[in-house]
Amino acid sequence: MHSEQRRSCGTLLASLAIAIIFVTGAISKAEDGYRLWLRYDPLPKRTIEAYRPRIASVVVPGDSATLEVIRTELVNGCTGLLGSAVPIANEANRDGAVIAGTLKSSPQIATLGWERQLADLGPEGFRIRSLKIGYRSVIVIASSGEVGALYGAFHFLRLLQTLQPIDKLDVSQKPRLQLRLLDHWDNLDGSIERGYAGRSLWDWKALPENVDSRLRDYARANASIGINGSTLNNVNANAQILTAEYLRRVAAIADVFRPYGVKVYLSARFSAPIELGGLKTADPLDAEVAAWWKQKADEIYKLIPDFGGFLVKANSEGQPGPRTYHRTHADGANMLAAAVAPHKGVVIWRAFVYDMKPGYDRAGAAYENLQPFDGKFAPNVLLQVKNGPIDFQPREPFHPLFGGMSRTQVIPELQITQEYLGFSNHLVFLAQMWREFLDSDTYARGPGSTVAKVVDGSLYHQRLTGMAGVANTGTDRNWTGHHFLQGNWYAFGRLTWNPDLSSRQIADEWIAMTLTHDPKATETIARMMLESHEAVVDYMTPLGLHHLFWGGHHYGPAPWWNTEPRDDWNPVYYHRADAEGIGFDRTATGSNTVNQYHWPVRGQFSNLSTCPDRFLLWFHHVPWDYRVRSGRTLWDEMTLHYQHGVAWVRATRKDWDALSDEIDPERHAAVAKKLTIQERDAIWWKDACLTYFQTFSKRSLPAGVEKPAKTLAEYKAKSLQW
Ligand code: GCU
Repeated sequence: MHSEQRRSCGTLLASLAIAIIFVTGAISKAEDGYRLWLRYDPLPKRTIEAYRPRIASVVVPGDSATLEVIRTELVNGCTGLLGSAVPIANEANRDGAVIAGTLKSSPQIATLGWERQLADLGPEGFRIRSLKIGYRSVIVIASSGEVGALYGAFHFLRLLQTLQPIDKLDVSQKPRLQLRLLDHWDNLDGSIERGYAGRSLWDWKALPENVDSRLRDYARANASIGINGSTLNNVNANAQILTAEYLRRVAAIADVFRPYGVKVYLSARFSAPIELGGLKTADPLDAEVAAWWKQKADEIYKLIPDFGGFLVKANSEGQPGPRTYHRTHADGANMLAAAVAPHKGVVIWRAFVYDMKPGYDRAGAAYENLQPFDGKFAPNVLLQVKNGPIDFQPREPFHPLFGGMSRTQVIPELQITQEYLGFSNHLVFLAQMWREFLDSDTYARGPGSTVAKVVDGSLYHQRLTGMAGVANTGTDRNWTGHHFLQGNWYAFGRLTWNPDLSSRQIADEWIAMTLTHDPKATETIARMMLESHEAVVDYMTPLGLHHLFWGGHHYGPAPWWNTEPRDDWNPVYYHRADAEGIGFDRTATGSNTVNQYHWPVRGQFSNLSTCPDRFLLWFHHVPWDYRVRSGRTLWDEMTLHYQHGVAWVRATRKDWDALSDEIDPERHAAVAKKLTIQERDAIWWKDACLTYFQTFSKRSLPAGVEKPAKTLAEYKAKSLQW
């Protein structure tokens, strides 16, 4: 087909797409949350009037899959937001053209002399400018790569969605991190480990022939926030994913993701050479084993030329690994790295490794296991470290491996799915928690050596940088089970793009794009979101308490739990409550793992009087009558934190109820229902924990703390109703 014909064919398709939007928009007003933050409903009238002269047509020449996506997105987005058709044009021959593309795809961009600027921004960066081409006022969205142009298009649409002025645009951005990844803990049977929003999005039985159109929407949502990779399967990996049969299915998914700049990665089971290859060993130093992985990598890259690489959970919680063969983590990672290196793939090795020896402090385990290998990993290995040293608790101090491995490419693993934060029932805006983590000062190279600087490469100048988040998505119509928790997916993506973004900015963007433009309602909702994390910490694990959860599912409180086969799977191991006090002594008089932090962090944490209240019981066993910063005793302070958490949920329910005129009835009711559950759970947490801890403290509840309704025996017996 002649390129001119192809373009007019594209124009026709785009007009059809517009027609379809209008028709379906008119018929169905379902506010089920499916559209996420990419809603594109008409903006307030005044904004539309201001935008309309500047957005009269969309000019995206070229015919690649990604350019097609950009075209469709800009036409649909602008048309929807402006409430009237914004057509495709072949060239910018009138005012108000929005031109998008690359130096190669767009003859008009090629004439701007932006070669150097675009080269500096890289293929994922973009430049957006208002300028004149001839006599015409236009907006140009340009990149040296098509995916960069797509990110630019989404950025431009976000500016509109958040009502920003667009008359003098001059934006240059590039992602601060290279690998911006979602990790899916999806099993091949369609279940999701720690997933609370339905089943896996990957329908392995239907693939590769039938690809659910939802996968395109998933990739599109990711591209809109800059996520550029998805690990499809659980870190507790089934080797079957590496069979030819499954790889064909994986390739079908990769084909859908590719135009959106999202690469696929797979979790690899370390013993796959035995299970699939029939070898007797998976010893990483065995030549046959290395050859098997090499051949496997070649096979994968033949099907998926841009395959991202392997994620590996080794010698952790029963998973096989190099230590099974008396080899080291570095031996294991580097052998796999050699297999994918010729294809420019990476190996992401997880640091979530802990052994249980008597008297051992699990918080120190990952550091002890991995830190000795600093500088020993191959250049295409990244070490993926959870934000805190235990396991995605409502609050943890930063993991000491951040700032502890200057010659290793360390990337954080955050948990977007709320394993320990009330599943998809509790409203928690995790950006607050991640901000606290990223802003933590490791002091690795003196003051200001924040985790964010370790992560973005400005401290150690590592070649590869990244961040991974354990996804909270599933087949629920609203993707994340709770409308507000879409905001955590959004926040994660935005932070991978720019780890310095404030939680407030992220919240404001998300609210404007997803819920409302009303300033008063925005203020209320932003406050709810920004306060939510502290409130959940209050009613679950205040003052540095951690892991008080029911064994196994980790939903409700069970601080009394002591029957797991391993000590460190029991809450009693973590809180250590006794007649004297409560908390885990990690200072020199205890496990001394506080020593894994640099000075002066370890000094600050070690000293009871300088340790921040929020980590008090993480690092210290504190007497019940110890006076904390407020002047209250520890016991009183703790009870008041629990009470405050409950009070916050009650107040938030009222605030939300008052927004019924601002939010559509469907989503308003759904969130209200979740808040009812959250209130029930917060009370349950407070009452169960205080009733239990009171058996040690033997102190009464201070004024202002409501009496628990039930006995300890009843809380213990409570069956779980989630
Ligand atoms: C937690 C979680 C497990 C998960 C593990 C991991 O322990 O409960 O389900 O497999 O983390 O991160 O590997």
